[in-house]
Amino acid sequence: MKGERFCIIGKYQFKTPFFLASGTWGLGDTLLNYLNPGEIRSAVGALITKGLSLEPMEGNPPPRLFETPCGLINSIGLENPGLKVFLKKYYPQLKALQTPIIFNLHGKSLEEFFEMAEILSEIEAEGIELNISCPNVKEGGIAFSQKPDVVFELVKGVRERFKGLLIVKLSPVGPVFEVAKACEEALSDALTVANTYPALGVYSYEPFQVIKGGLSGPAIKPLTLRLVFELSKIVKIPLIASGGILSGKDAFEYFLCGARAFQIGTANLIDPKAPIKICQEFKELVEKYGGLPDKNPT
Ligand SMILES: Cc1cc2nc3c(=O)[nH]c(=O)nc-3n(C[C@H](O)[C@H](O)[C@H](O)COP(=O)(O)O)c2cc1C
Repeated sequence: MKGERFCIIGKYQFKTPFFLASGTWGLGDTLLNYLNPGEIRSAVGALITKGLSLEPMEGNPPPRLFETPCGLINSIGLENPGLKVFLKKYYPQLKALQTPIIFNLHGKSLEEFFEMAEILSEIEAEGIELNISCPNVKEGGIAFSQKPDVVFELVKGVRERFKGLLIVKLSPVGPVFEVAKACEEALSDALTVANTYPALGVYSYEPFQVIKGGLSGPAIKPLTLRLVFELSKIVKIPLIASGGILSGKDAFEYFLCGARAFQIGTANLIDPKAPIKICQEFKELVEKYGGLPDKNPT
């Protein structure tokens, strides 16, 4: 048993391996309506902010959410107040929680990503998660993750400017394995596997309409599990699983497939206290097996 290793990412240690996924817990105020600071500190290893851009973004017009039998399609379009406003208005309250904060960043160009990395370097932020994989914005987003050479330039440039924890959030579609290798070569500390899957919902009543967005929740778990399993054989840097984690058992399955930390996303929208439940269930499973297994299934 090597029970402590799963919450070490690069040279950083986390109290628990459960991180709150970007975009699923508001900007800070919403979270604090449901979880108190003590609960956050004991269950949550890190808070990953809503996707932040250099300038404010309005996001997409409604409809923005579409429920499917076992998943959710979202088309938020990265509505956010912009990095500078976020730092002034929301960051101080989050920092007071004494839980590591990882900034999820979205840029329309390499230069925008680099400028944000410099701002975050100046304030000595703990971590960055580069979002190169949002399926519902017109510029940047998923387009980045289709080109391994561009991703290499992006990660290398951010790495040169930012010395804290650097994570890249992969798209689940496109040349995923080549992009993952490019991130590792450009010295990313870890990979988040993965963002939502491009999907479409139909309103089959008048006025007939479709919604294009990203699918999350239990529907995507088997797909993302496969990506984690395959990627764990291809890269050496730690993998952080994100896709349909609703229970401790889900996280345990991801662990068995090679993930070393887990993001809780859509589960927060179903039950904002989900992180406490999932963390407890995971602990119970680890105890049941006398620690975390050393061998991955074949
Ligand atoms: C409403 C909503 C908003 C999201 N916003 C972001 C975002 O701003 N940046 C990002 O990288 N991922 C975003 N995501 C993706 C989640 O962080 C997560 O990676 C994805 O939903 C898969 O995990 P899940 O199945 O546990 O939800 C969002 C997801 C949802 C449902």
